[in-house]
Amino acid sequence: MSNEIIRIFDTTLRDGEQSPGCSMNLSEKLTLARQLEKLGVDVLEAGFPIASEGDFESVRAIAGELRESIVCGLARTGSADIERAAEALEGAAKPRIHTFIATSDIHLEHKLRMGRQQVLDEVDRAVRQARSYCDDVEFSAEDATRSDWDYLVQVFEVALEAGATTVNVPDTVGYTTPGEYHALIAELRSRVRGIDKAVISLHCHNDLGLGVANSLAAIRAGARQVECTVNGIGERAGNTAMEEVVMALKTRPDVYEGVDTNIRTTEIYPTSRMLSSIIGVSVQPNKAIVGDNAFAHEAGIHQDGVLKNAMTYEIMTPQSIGRPSNELVLGKHSGRHAFRDRLSELGFDLAGDEFEGAFRRFKDLADRKKTVYNEDIEAIVADSVIRSDDRFELGELAIVSGTFPTATATVELSVEGDKRKTSSVGIGPVDSVFKAIACLTDTKAELLRYQVNAITGGMDAQGEVSVSLSEDGRRVIGHGAHTDIIVASAKAYVHALNKLEWHKRRHSVSEPKGI
Ligand code: KIV
Ligand code: ZN
Repeated sequence: MSNEIIRIFDTTLRDGEQSPGCSMNLSEKLTLARQLEKLGVDVLEAGFPIASEGDFESVRAIAGELRESIVCGLARTGSADIERAAEALEGAAKPRIHTFIATSDIHLEHKLRMGRQQVLDEVDRAVRQARSYCDDVEFSAEDATRSDWDYLVQVFEVALEAGATTVNVPDTVGYTTPGEYHALIAELRSRVRGIDKAVISLHCHNDLGLGVANSLAAIRAGARQVECTVNGIGERAGNTAMEEVVMALKTRPDVYEGVDTNIRTTEIYPTSRMLSSIIGVSVQPNKAIVGDNAFAHEAGIHQDGVLKNAMTYEIMTPQSIGRPSNELVLGKHSGRHAFRDRLSELGFDLAGDEFEGAFRRFKDLADRKKTVYNEDIEAIVADSVIRSDDRFELGELAIVSGTFPTATATVELSVEGDKRKTSSVGIGPVDSVFKAIACLTDTKAELLRYQVNAITGGMDAQGEVSVSLSEDGRRVIGHGAHTDIIVASAKAYVHALNKLEWHKRRHSVSEPKGI
């Protein structure tokens, strides 16, 4: 008998993207959406169309391009929200409208100021409206795990009666525990009339570090859709990490009997790396599955065991999640073909000018650096391709610094194509460069954090700089890599400024509406 499929509903571009420092622009979202489809996600939640013009455009662009994955747009139960989601999904091959309203008394009383019957009426109306646009409608009872169970049964019955095809039981505030969540899903399965005709979905946040454990418990209780994000990014402590749930199901079929996913696990690592390079947020080294140390054996006794038989200390192989071998490095003799193959292994399918631009940067780097690692290539792509709609572009840069108390930087920068140049003095090279850039861009953003890492080992390693900026309550992280860390710093600063600009444009038409 074939296994039952657990649907993977990826919300990296919606719940993930709305967390601090994880915002993406349109071309970044499209690049990641293509990779998520290649990874095999069943449903891709592309955004919250009514939240802003930028969100609407992203959902529309992704819906117009993906043909395999279901593309989903989020909407509150208000009629304008649902209309906007339907409009954004018009070009989708497989559209889904996802509508939600809170069901816990605490949300009803303090946030919605609605009674229970009013919410039931709202669910009925919203799901029917969504069904008038689309056959695939998901309904979520926000804060389900803190809602009264008898009331939840009623809410889901109304949603199903109105035509919902998936019902989602979110642990919005990361409050539940595995035993309790299992019991809730089992109770809903046995009590909600008509639930056997719909898919039960889970959606967990990680506030108590239980997101993945709760998700797995819900699967054992009969949930058949997992809402999750790549690297577990998301509101506050994040969402269920896609890679952890998928690999738990794969590695322990004896526990999770008779189920499987459609995920191509060899695309897990490239997807994780791509997300990190786009948002400039790396995963912690000991992160399960995708962290740098997830397959590193340091203790002598472990190394000895692994050399004799990897299964002594490895419960899955790095190859199964697509971690490329680091022995296969590129250098200045590598040609177009090798570069294209490596890009595609890393999940980037570039063509035309995009490919040529990235190849030029690769050659330039290979001239300065003996070996070019995968991480270097990801930095090149993040730098040159997915930032093509930037307002500011860094030009030439010169620094005079040393043991004198001040350093001087001269920076060239173009603002929407208009070339500008200035010199500034600072207490060190980074300070002087940042001052010059601030002057040329006229920014008021506050610098919150500055961090330098070496991307790979060796004297010729590229420096990778992250810069965190804040303006009008919006926090962004910029990312830059170069063999010269001052150039990397300037790139990171300009990247962060471009992200702030992107947000200003994105919210210039309609104000963001939080959940
Ligand atoms: O956490 C939550 O409740 C959500 C819903 C919109 C599904 O993200
Ligand atoms: Zn959520």
